[in-house]
Amino acid sequence: MAKTKTSFFCQNCGHQAPKWLGRCPSCGEWNTFVEEVIQKEEPTKGSWKSSSSLKVAAKPRAIQEINFEEQPRIKTKDQELNRVLGGGIVLGSLILIGGEPGIGKSTLMLQIALTLSNYRVLYVSGEESEQQIKMRAERLAHKSDNCYILTETSTQNIFKQIEQFEPDILIIDSIQTLQSSFIEAGAGSISQVKECAAELMKYAKESGTPVFMIGHITKDGGLAGPKVLEHMVDTVLQFEGDRHLAYRILRTTKNRFGSTSELGIYEMLESGLREVTNPSEILISQRDEDFSGITIGAMLEGNRPLLIEIQSLVSIATYGTPQRSSTGFDAKRLNMILAVLEKRGGFRLGNQDVFLNIAGGLKVEDPAIDLAVCTSIVSSYEDISIPNTVCFAAEVGLGGEVRAVNRIEQRIAEAQKLGFKEIWISKFNAKGLNVDSYDIKIRMASKLEDVFIQILRK
Ligand code: TYD
Ligand code: MG
Repeated sequence: MAKTKTSFFCQNCGHQAPKWLGRCPSCGEWNTFVEEVIQKEEPTKGSWKSSSSLKVAAKPRAIQEINFEEQPRIKTKDQELNRVLGGGIVLGSLILIGGEPGIGKSTLMLQIALTLSNYRVLYVSGEESEQQIKMRAERLAHKSDNCYILTETSTQNIFKQIEQFEPDILIIDSIQTLQSSFIEAGAGSISQVKECAAELMKYAKESGTPVFMIGHITKDGGLAGPKVLEHMVDTVLQFEGDRHLAYRILRTTKNRFGSTSELGIYEMLESGLREVTNPSEILISQRDEDFSGITIGAMLEGNRPLLIEIQSLVSIATYGTPQRSSTGFDAKRLNMILAVLEKRGGFRLGNQDVFLNIAGGLKVEDPAIDLAVCTSIVSSYEDISIPNTVCFAAEVGLGGEVRAVNRIEQRIAEAQKLGFKEIWISKFNAKGLNVDSYDIKIRMASKLEDVFIQILRK
């Protein structure tokens, strides 16, 4: 009988150590090591194995000799999903969909399974019963004769079914519920999750079947989260959003077959997820009159230009230390912007509470919204509204300078398409820009001051 082998795993980042450690040397968290049994039987018995595993060892080849073909892709009916995957599902790819519980991962995958009616889709669920899945499918109002459900958690049994069934696409809901008999540790533990993912990876690569894996992630990272899987899979999609709001964002954080930071937007309805094809419409709130503190920034997410509303509220701090709070925008960057406004703009913000909010539950990292953030804060501070036909696209430097941003043409074109009358950009973006070819008025600035002088006139 094989000797029982154990190892210690950090439950936060998956770091493996031969003995217990108080503090993880990899992620620095305290008291996260748990002993897990990793008993290996002889490999490949009952796991996914195909004849091609007897392949001749690879030899070096000149790069010119290698034939390049576009990766064959399955185009889904869901344009948002095609976009985040870089143009469709690549055959043989392993895709991880991470997200908090209840955000709609199962709904999204079932909906995709039902719309791909020309492909045999196997939806393996270790979380819900057949009846529960059927109930969800009834709500979704899509019909497919080719979508099959399997409720099973043992990978060995799943592979047995797959060998007979030969699906075109495999969906696993979720990786945390799977269990491989090669590992003793319980489902959801780091070593179990890693082993199951490795087996699925082998299956995907050898059979050429795309595999979607759903993975839960919790706020405190208590569960063996998909973090440890990220380096194993081809593509990582993140499904996020505020559970109390209807909008959901599907974001690419890693993609071996396309660009990252692509974005898909959905709306959660009674009857499933609806693609939002013109997101700027939902990101900019409808209003009859102009309020102070609201401005619009032209940002890019991946290749996609989006106009987004920034709201701020600046009011005198009556309860001691002024508060600074931001939703969807980096708090450190907000502090930097406040310091720039104080020092370079002469605004006395030191005794003010500042609340900043990016509409629609989006998290923005594009520095091009800096100028919109600045004008939003100043607009609220001075209580002067900025017309909702004006938008901004520029970065702000520590010296109060208005800096150029990339792909300015795309941002201007999107603003023009949505009917904006004026866009503020950096003077240093002017090179190579044909200002007269646009209907929208392009205004340029090199310092924050130039912008404020113009827009803060009552
Ligand atoms: P679910 O896909 O179960 O989330 P996850 O798999 O990420 O844990 O979906 C969760 C929520 O979605 C649930 O609160 C109900 C809601 N929902 C709708 O609003 N409309 C629908 O058509 C469906 C199927 C679900
Ligand atoms: Mg689910």
